[in-house]
Amino acid sequence: MKIIDLRSDTVTLPSPEMRKVMANAELGDDVFGEDPTVNRLQEMAAELLGKEAALLVTSGTQGNLAALLAHCRRGDEVILGKLSHTLNFEVGGASALGGLIMKAVRNDSNGRLDSGEMRAAIRPPDDHFARTGLICLENTHNLCGGTVLTAEDLAAVRDLADQHDLPIHIDGARVFNAAVALHVPVSRLTAFADSVTFCLSKGLGCPVGSVLCGSREFIAEARRYRKMLGGGMRQAGVLAAAGIYALENMVERLAEDHQNARIAAEGLAEIPGITLAPPPQTNLVYFTVEGWDLAAFVRRMSESGVLCFDEGGRIRWVTHFGIERADVEEAVARVQSVMPAGLPLRRAGV
Ligand SMILES: Cc1ncc(COP(=O)(O)O)c(C=O)c1O
Repeated sequence: MKIIDLRSDTVTLPSPEMRKVMANAELGDDVFGEDPTVNRLQEMAAELLGKEAALLVTSGTQGNLAALLAHCRRGDEVILGKLSHTLNFEVGGASALGGLIMKAVRNDSNGRLDSGEMRAAIRPPDDHFARTGLICLENTHNLCGGTVLTAEDLAAVRDLADQHDLPIHIDGARVFNAAVALHVPVSRLTAFADSVTFCLSKGLGCPVGSVLCGSREFIAEARRYRKMLGGGMRQAGVLAAAGIYALENMVERLAEDHQNARIAAEGLAEIPGITLAPPPQTNLVYFTVEGWDLAAFVRRMSESGVLCFDEGGRIRWVTHFGIERADVEEAVARVQSVMPAGLPLRRAGV
């Protein structure tokens, strides 16, 4: 039986072509700024995102944390979504290590920050209040369903931020998915932010790494925090080579993942008891399963060779490099055959 792994786009493995460029990468000590391949990736990423400079980091989590630390001072408040990855899944690093206060506001179903709550969260200058240091957005938005913030959504936040002289950081772990879904250059979306993190190790298919982009001055500061966080990686050109390959060859391919997510969603929607929550915009498919305890559903699917997660009371499927149309069709067929077992299981309290 073929295992179809839909847990995350982080499970992608580097292709033989990617491994080859990694093996042949020209290397140096990146802490000294001497790895030519890292330098090339950073220049390329900065140019693509329309920023002055970029920094290769170990992970999305490290990129977001270095960004928050570089933008803010201890005791500052960071305005971000209640459903954001940074708030929920990054181990509270910004508070634990940076002394930052997370000021969470409601996300709407599309991943936008509620504009009223965001406005109210911005502190006026007053000795009693913590200072507002940053607004943090997520594009695409993971927990909201891989939803896309458009240029218009981002422009509205930029306007508000400018009124209060606040910087904006985008957790753009999947910002290339957003750009591909909207058919715009990624720089159209990143133009509204002071800094952006994007992940190489998700749909772009690299084994390790993310890139933080911003102004030259900001990246110089973030580079110090990267070192503090243990992210000075020496001959990191091995990883950067994969990143360069991905930016050149793997971005447009994301459209196939989106197409496969739509095919999965259409198939799932026809199965009684399954409700899409919401219909996918990119490569994440969330759905609810009536009649099943979700842990039991995940277990039963795993026994039938389809790996997935229960995220926040819904099942999440992620399409990615290595998952073909036939795989999602087969995964849907396996759900179809598993579903009827749900009601008796629930009655038995399993
Ligand atoms: C939206 C979002 N931001 C940040 C991250 C963190 O990335 P990493 O796992 O590389 O730390 C993830 C990882 O899944 C993510 O989905």
